Amino acid sequence: MKAIVTGGAGFIGSNLALALEARGAEVTVIDDFSCADFKNLSTFRGEMIAMDVNRVNWEKLGKVDAIFHQAALTDTTVSDQKRMVFNNVEGFKKVLQYAVRTNAKLVYASSAGVYGNEPAPQRETGRLNPLNIYAYSKLIGDQIAERAMKTEEILIIGLRYFNVFGKGESHKTKSASMIFRLAEQIRAGKRPRIFHAGEQTRDHIYVRDVVEANLKALEAKASGIVNVGTGKATSFNRLIEILNEVLGTRLAPDYFDNPYSFYQNSTQADTEKAQQLIGFKSRYSVEEGIKEYLTAFYRLQTSQAVSSKS
Ligand SMILES: NC(=O)c1ccc[n+]([C@@H]2O[C@H](COP(=O)([O-])OP(=O)(O)OC[C@H]3O[C@@H](n4cnc5c(N)ncnc54)[C@H](O)[C@@H]3O)[C@@H](O)[C@H]2O)c1
Repeated sequence: MKAIVTGGAGFIGSNLALALEARGAEVTVIDDFSCADFKNLSTFRGEMIAMDVNRVNWEKLGKVDAIFHQAALTDTTVSDQKRMVFNNVEGFKKVLQYAVRTNAKLVYASSAGVYGNEPAPQRETGRLNPLNIYAYSKLIGDQIAERAMKTEEILIIGLRYFNVFGKGESHKTKSASMIFRLAEQIRAGKRPRIFHAGEQTRDHIYVRDVVEANLKALEAKASGIVNVGTGKATSFNRLIEILNEVLGTRLAPDYFDNPYSFYQNSTQADTEKAQQLIGFKSRYSVEEGIKEYLTAFYRLQTSQAVSSKS
């Protein structure tokens, strides 16, 4: 199989590019390295196009079987609307046009951010209410994709990722997963800081599961947009318990007031449509994912053997 992974030097894209390569695919990564880490691709041997998807000469690119579009400006705190929308929306249109022209399957990254503060569990048919310009840019992408699903012949699958964590995310600094940021605080000997009173919840999904969802999407019989989460919500307080267990620490949460007036208090994916449309169900619990990830990341000496499910 020949595949393109846009955003392939970023967190999820690099995990996906390496997994595809390990399965024998011929992979081209397109990434402008605006928010990437070259170390993520140190073992990658495919082709690299180090360019903005908005500037790639798509007409000159040969045919591929599948394109996985992960490239996006992913910093949710960016308030420059022009930059965010141009990058994420116009970039997506170019990728979509290329997929249609070359009859390639298109799997693209959407986000649970499109649901905003709608009550959990979030369903694909529920109200969409983006709270920031990043989430809005993802919603516009979904709308463009839905229109194309009605008029074009190709397979298009949108994946609304929930909160992804795992290897290859450290370059994202303040946009890295909450799991990584809290672990870094704990490793520095600091009490982990969370919003008062820690009962907010998130559906954290391990990056290996997200890679699997992308691969499963290729087998879908019909186009559509599905949630990619575990279906389980974990409170901030529970997350700190898990981190203390894995890191061998006993640091109590350091609560502070949430400065945001608009905030997603609870995310939890309804996973039914993903199971039906692409046959995807997550394999890692949040505990298993965190244990595997942080044990390897910090090279922890642990008596509790960490089992890899790959
Ligand atoms: N990590 C999460 O929890 C999460 C949740 C929901 C959705 N997503 C989506 O998943 C995708 C991957 O996110 P990630 O977490 O790996 O973030 P990331 O920032 O690590 O990866 C994005 C990659 O895209 C590249 N990029 C950005 N704009 C580009 C452009 N115009 N042309 C070429 N390359 C460009 C960046 O350099 C980076 O390597 C994104 O579309 C993001 O919106 C991620």
